[in-house]
Amino acid sequence: MEQNDFRRTTVRVAEAEHVTADVMRLVLTPVDSDKLPDWEAGAHVDLHLPSGLSRQYSLCGDATDTTSYTICVLREPNGRGGSAEIHDTIKAGSELEIVGPRNHFALHPAPSYLFLAGGIGITPIKAMIDEAERQGAEWSLLYGGRTASSMVYGPELGQRHPERVQLIPQDVEGLIDVVVAVAELADDTLVYCCGPEGLLDATTKACEAVGISDRLHIERFAAGEAPPPPEDGEKPFEVELRQSNITLTVAADQTLLEVVRSVRPDIDFSCQEGYCGSCESRVLEGQPDHRGTMMTPEEHDEDGTMLICVGRSCTPKLVLDL
Ligand code: FES
Repeated sequence: MEQNDFRRTTVRVAEAEHVTADVMRLVLTPVDSDKLPDWEAGAHVDLHLPSGLSRQYSLCGDATDTTSYTICVLREPNGRGGSAEIHDTIKAGSELEIVGPRNHFALHPAPSYLFLAGGIGITPIKAMIDEAERQGAEWSLLYGGRTASSMVYGPELGQRHPERVQLIPQDVEGLIDVVVAVAELADDTLVYCCGPEGLLDATTKACEAVGISDRLHIERFAAGEAPPPPEDGEKPFEVELRQSNITLTVAADQTLLEVVRSVRPDIDFSCQEGYCGSCESRVLEGQPDHRGTMMTPEEHDEDGTMLICVGRSCTPKLVLDL
C-alpha cells in the first residue's frame, strides 16, 4: 500500500461532458492546492458521492499533468445507483471528495505489451498506452465495444496509432478473438486486460491454455469467482483495532466490515464483494483468510493487507491497523 492510498482530497468538477450516449467524462481539479497527488497508469480513485455512495474510477488522463484528473463514468442501468447519481446530479462546479489514487493494476516494465480492452475497460488501458509510448515499448491494442459509437477513445486511439490499434465493434465484427490474440506472443510480451467478465474469463482461459498465465494482468469492475465458504461453516474470531484500542468479536454470521464499522463508521467500503479495494486494510498480526478477487492471497500477504468486506481470519485473532 502506498502513501496516497488513503489520502482524501476535495476536488472540483471542471468539466462534465457526455462523450458517448452513456459515458460521461469528468475533469477534476484540486480545490485547496495547485496539484493533485501523483499517479501511475492503472491507478483509480474512489469518488465519494453526495448520497454517501463511493465508486471507483480509473484515471485515464495525462499522468504527467497532476493539475487535473480525468475519469469516464458509464451509466449502468442495472447498477446500484452510483453511476446514475453522477450522470444525473454532478455538473461542472460540483465539489466531491476523492480517496487515492490507488493502483492494483500497475504496468510492469516490459519491452512489449498486448492490451485487451472491452467497453469502459479502455480507461486504465488508455493510461497504460500513454505510458508504453513514453517508455518506447512495443504495444498493440484490441479494443471491443458494443458498437463503434459506444467506444470511448476509439476514434482518438485509432487515429493516433492506426498500426497498433484494432477496433472491434461487436455488432459488426463480434467479440475479440482472445485465443488468436494470445496464441503466438513473444516471450517478453505482457498481457493487460480490462473489461466485462466474459472478456476477462476468456482471456484468463486462453492464457492458461498456452501457459502464459504469469504474464496476464487483469482488472475487474465486478466480482469474480470467489472461493466457496468452508464446508463446516464460518467460525467466529476476534479482531483488535490497534489505533482505536478496541477488541471486538466477529460472529459467524457477521462480516468483519460490519463489525469494524460498528465502532469505526468512517471506514470506507463500496462493492462489499471483494473486488474494488475500498475496504483494504493493513494487517498487523494474525493470518487473514483472503476471500476477494481483487488480488491473490499471496499479493495481499506480500502487501500486508486484506479486504475486510469478505475476508475473515485463519487465526483466532486478527490485529488491524485501524
Ligand atoms: S468494499 Fe470493495 S473490496 Fe471491500
